[in-house]
Amino acid sequence: MASKYLLESSSIYLEGTDIPRNKPGITSTEELHELERELLEEAYQVFYHELTDDTLFDEAYFKALHRRTFEGLYEWAGDYRQFNMSKGSSRFCQGAYVAASSHKIFAELAKVNYLKKFNGSKIEFARQLAHFKCELIALHPFCELNGRITRLFFDMIALSNDYFYIDYSGIKPETYINASIDCVQLADSSAMALIIANGLTANLS
Ligand SMILES: Nc1ncnc2c1ncn2[C@@H]1O[C@H](COP(=O)(O)OP(=O)(O)O)[C@@H](O)[C@H]1O
Ligand SMILES: [Mg+2]
Repeated sequence: MASKYLLESSSIYLEGTDIPRNKPGITSTEELHELERELLEEAYQVFYHELTDDTLFDEAYFKALHRRTFEGLYEWAGDYRQFNMSKGSSRFCQGAYVAASSHKIFAELAKVNYLKKFNGSKIEFARQLAHFKCELIALHPFCELNGRITRLFFDMIALSNDYFYIDYSGIKPETYINASIDCVQLADSSAMALIIANGLTANLS
């Protein structure tokens, strides 16, 4: 039996707010955002140091990123939602199908060896990253923090291929959202591929 948090979106948030219920009982948005920012920064350090040639970017790894980053804060860290979710005019994968769809995405990623030691140009690598990133954006498997954990996931894949973390600072937030809308509503990853190609720099050292 899944926790009540995974079954209904309404149980995630403090009544009448968009502040997720959290273990320390924080009720200030600013305080919560600051703590989330610190936890994510720590996670980058932790997962950077844990990265080896043997790291598999599989579903267990993806879920562990979310769980281990936010388990001190949220009950549902690392667990998939079961309720339906949308943002703007985009409807993400139906709650009932999140687990099955995720298995399919990661089975496809396994077929290309989790994009480890990718053999191809930067633009080809960006296209592959964008394809899988779009699948995970459309999946939107967690109750919250999908954007940050998905970026962390692909940053670790980029790093393992001797690129720096993908730099999104050069693009406007609405450009990123529009590319996400293409992913969810059109299954078109071309705009995301351009964003990623722009943000990828080889680490030649
Ligand atoms: N209107 C939209 N249509 C499709 N995808 C969207 C839309 N708005 C946001 N997204 C996607 O959802 C992500 C945000 O998900 P969320 O769970 O709130 O994570 P975070 O809190 O880390 O940003 C964005 O990074 C984007 O990829
Ligand atoms: Mg959010």
